[in-house]
Amino acid sequence: MLTASDVQGPAARYNVPLARYTTWGVGGNAEVFFTPCGQDELSEAVVRARENSVDFFVLGGGSNVLIADGVIKTPVILTRGMSGIVVQVFGDEVFLDCFAGTPLKKVISLCVRNGWSGLEYAAGIPGTVGGAVAGNAGTSSGYIGQAVLRIVTVEADGSVMEWSGHEIDWAYRSCPLFEGNGRIACNVTFALRVSEKKSIAETMKLVIEERKTQPISSRTAGCVFKNPPGDSAGRLLDASGCKGMTVGGARVSEMHANFIENYENCKALDILYLAASCRRRVRETFGTALDFEIKTLGIPEEAADAKN
Ligand code: EPU
Repeated sequence: MLTASDVQGPAARYNVPLARYTTWGVGGNAEVFFTPCGQDELSEAVVRARENSVDFFVLGGGSNVLIADGVIKTPVILTRGMSGIVVQVFGDEVFLDCFAGTPLKKVISLCVRNGWSGLEYAAGIPGTVGGAVAGNAGTSSGYIGQAVLRIVTVEADGSVMEWSGHEIDWAYRSCPLFEGNGRIACNVTFALRVSEKKSIAETMKLVIEERKTQPISSRTAGCVFKNPPGDSAGRLLDASGCKGMTVGGARVSEMHANFIENYENCKALDILYLAASCRRRVRETFGTALDFEIKTLGIPEEAADAKN
């Protein structure tokens, strides 16, 4: 167990329960936990985290993560303290410079109130700006990367870099900028346009309507699996008979088969076993291997792997 003398700095805490920071409400305790409130503190957290570990885990809104039960050895950096939006308007052009820990919901409601167009398809997506960008969150009508002008990152060595959104090779639920390199988003600038408040609100209403088929009032982490090319994981899981399956207190939603609900104080292991059974069923029924959309922490790669 690490102690205060091993990891110092204003933002470090120890043995912090993580379940409360996730929408599933599961997960063990982080041995070391950083809550930076700005760019300098984020750089410091990255450097300090890496003094004790080769890796660290970035936790934003916790709406797309499965954290293992028990002790989490990987240092965790929570970005929620880095929240805020700076707005610049030049004629029809609007630029929103958001701190990575800003809830996406706040950005969306600012857009609706002011009639700024460009993020309508993101209405109803939970989590933070940083998490949404790192996972290129989206709906059937668009993905977050489409509106990104610029990303400021803190690199694995604590230095700061700037990236143009247009140069990023955005892919379905992925942003290559953040894959396996210890880089973390600090600020994201969205480029939007002044438009009609009424039409923005109507488009968002339609996007939110799509979620009526989803268990939005249950404890879930959104869709568990990515859609395979040309198909829907939800459809495959449903047709394989997964709806209503349970392990411990975890249950596959009866509304939408790509959602797992924590319906009765479940453990991370319940969710993991249930997801593995679902994946097996789809593979046996359709020969399709589903990949996790959710990010995992403290779960061995073999257990989180599509082959199991
Ligand atoms: N379907 C079933 N049974 C189910 C679920 C879906 O038959 O249990 C069928 C539907 O009837 C439909 C098709 O599968 O014909 C697609 O379903 P849906 O419209 O619900 O979309 P999805 O592909 O399952 C995607 C995103 C959601 C996003 C919705 C709406 C992924 C993995 N999921 O779901 O994103 O909200 O489109 O835009 O890409 C998320 O990523 O966490 C998420 C919730």
